[in-house]
Amino acid sequence: MKGIVFTEFLELVEEQFGIETVDKIVSESNLETGGVYTAVGTYSHKEMFSMVAKLSEIKGIAVPDLLEFYGKYFFGVLAKSYPQFLREKGLFSFLETIDNYIHPEVLKLYPDAELPSFSTVRDGDKSLLLTYKSSRKMAHFAMGLILGASEHFETKIDVQKLTENQDGEVVEIKIDILE
Ligand code: HEM
Repeated sequence: MKGIVFTEFLELVEEQFGIETVDKIVSESNLETGGVYTAVGTYSHKEMFSMVAKLSEIKGIAVPDLLEFYGKYFFGVLAKSYPQFLREKGLFSFLETIDNYIHPEVLKLYPDAELPSFSTVRDGDKSLLLTYKSSRKMAHFAMGLILGASEHFETKIDVQKLTENQDGEVVEIKIDILE
């Protein structure tokens, strides 16, 4: 997983909970890196899970909620870094380009990036079913990214997990436009 995912996570933890919490999760999560990341480096996604689990334990917030909150914030980071991918007119057409355009472009820039795959099916104008597939089991992070994207496109939505298979490697996410 790219370093930017780690550096921004620690940034958000500091902003929300203070530097003491950053120090605590870094020192108590048994990290091979010791919690030192550079934005361009690549690190095991297991370190992210260790830190999220530790944060969950310390703050009493469920892991899926933390991943979703972080995903929503991380969308803002991506939008700032990659404005060229935000030219789509609407939320659904944007979400439909991730798997066949955005993530493949990300892979060209960073051949060692680890990305999920998605398939999408529209159900009328106001409903989209997105199937997330990744051995990293980060569907809740995806749901947060989707919520971040909905704010960017100024579209009110409801996001729900419909089914979960293979211990979270394959997850169906339903997105309904509310207005
Ligand atoms: C501007 C648009 C986007 C860009 C540039 C982008 C790029 C990236 C990058 C750089 C990573 C980290 C890869 C790594 O750590 O090796 C990533 C991971 C990920 N992206 Fe995207 N992304 C975008 C939008 C989205 C959206 C809207 C979703 C949700 C549907 C999404 C779902 C994910 C997930 C879930 C991961 C974590 C890795 C995994 O689950 O296997 N991305 N993306």
